[in-house]
Amino acid sequence: MDIQAFSVVADWQAASLKYVVEKIEDTLKQKKICRIALSGGSTPKWLYSHLGQCNLQWKRIEIFQVDERYVPLGSQDLNAGMLRATCVRDQKAFADVHFFNVSVSWKQAAAEYTNLLETLTSPLFDLVILGVGPDGHTASLFPGSAALHSEQLVATTTTDVFAGRKRLTLTPKALNQSDVILILASGLEKKQIIERLKWGKDSMDVLPIMCVREHRKVSVMLLSK
Ligand code: 6PG
Repeated sequence: MDIQAFSVVADWQAASLKYVVEKIEDTLKQKKICRIALSGGSTPKWLYSHLGQCNLQWKRIEIFQVDERYVPLGSQDLNAGMLRATCVRDQKAFADVHFFNVSVSWKQAAAEYTNLLETLTSPLFDLVILGVGPDGHTASLFPGSAALHSEQLVATTTTDVFAGRKRLTLTPKALNQSDVILILASGLEKKQIIERLKWGKDSMDVLPIMCVREHRKVSVMLLSK
């Protein structure tokens, strides 16, 4: 696991954006389509906005979601809404865009996304972008969640702490089927979580971000101020 810590926002942002752009461009030298899975939350919003301004071969990029809040389509808590407002403004510009379908039942939405992922060749993704919560959760994998041990690729979870009580999420089994994983974190609370991730003493039930610690290619970009 490669951890880069920054104290200057501009440096953190430049390094993170460079990492993502280079990973996409390198992938497209080898493959026709680059598949990236994007987390929600607030930390990556600036990255998605900047990425949307980059001159990338969007027609060869396929977008997936890491997780979603099971809320109505117009809800401000919908991660897809944040993605549409930042880098996925025109879905037709992409090879394909796969948002969780929150207009069907919660369980059906999970089943549909599972079916989608099961059609993909390995690795499922070329890049997964994760955030991390102050409790060490990632995606919508919260401490103590059974989804952390699921053999499925997609799970439903709940949280009574964060926005959007009912969630849809990729499981560790899916997240770890990415060629590379980027973890974006900022602030002192997250710095402490990243330190615990680095030392590796916590179980993933206590610190869910541990679920990707053993992945062969995890990069952490931490804004530690
Ligand atoms: C979500 C995210 C979630 C997020 C963390 C960190 O749907 O909320 O996918 O896992 O990455 O909660 O969120 P912040 O970046 O807003 O701190």
